[in-house]
Amino acid sequence: GKPPNVYTFAGVAELAPSLRAYVLSAQNAAIERHGTFRVAVSGGSLPKTLAQALLAKSDGSSGDVVDFSKWEIFFADERCVPLDHEDSNYKLLKDELLDKIPKEEVGEPKVFPIDEQYLDDAQEMADQYEKALVSVFAARDSVKLPLFDLLLLGCGPDGHTCSLFPEHPLLRETDAWVLSISDSPKPPPKRITLSLPVVCHGAKIAFVATGGGKKDIMKKIFETEEGRALPCGLVNEGAGEKVSWFTDAPAVEGVSVP
Ligand code: 6PG
Repeated sequence: GKPPNVYTFAGVAELAPSLRAYVLSAQNAAIERHGTFRVAVSGGSLPKTLAQALLAKSDGSSGDVVDFSKWEIFFADERCVPLDHEDSNYKLLKDELLDKIPKEEVGEPKVFPIDEQYLDDAQEMADQYEKALVSVFAARDSVKLPLFDLLLLGCGPDGHTCSLFPEHPLLRETDAWVLSISDSPKPPPKRITLSLPVVCHGAKIAFVATGGGKKDIMKKIFETEEGRALPCGLVNEGAGEKVSWFTDAPAVEGVSVP
């Protein structure tokens, strides 16, 4: 297949308007297709960048309207901690974006956090989150994989994305939509994550990777065999031109990107 798209900007401030245009184009297409916009988001720096993109003032054109009332937001991965815990990706998104949405003007997204009832049992947590996905994306037996309109992801310094870590057996899971991990190399150890096939099945997948700390891993992912086998590389491989990387100059300095 075709290679992913890589877009590079001077910095996050310059990247944000393009990320906005990209997200809104996906939003408008999805609403046109099925009336809602189904998005999965990860943690890290992404919620902050996303807020910068989405809470900015509209340019007034008809396509440049964030219609949050049509959004259904899921977590690409989540830590098995209470929703008000510092490590919670839900809390991160809430603090950075959800709480800042002017709901009276633009409506309110439907958000799908993990169920705190299952914090002690990561596998049960994953099964329950999968059930929530099934209830939205149709019954398991009629849909092989959930079709997210857009997945917004980060890339860790080791090449992980979601909570899919390099060389972890979870990368070989092909059946379940949502997986549990109890030995995450990055704390906290207990997490749930979308599976690699679910990520690659998405209509569109965007990575946001900025800052000089990303240079080495970007070089590896885009220039080496080893890097192509890392989780982010596997998404590039599996989803090809559906994938877009939003990067800044420091993150791709000296990297041969497509
Ligand atoms: C996690 C983080 C992690 C993060 C990447 C990229 O659960 O450990 O959410 O997956 O998304 O490490 O982080 P940055 O976007 O902050 O570089």
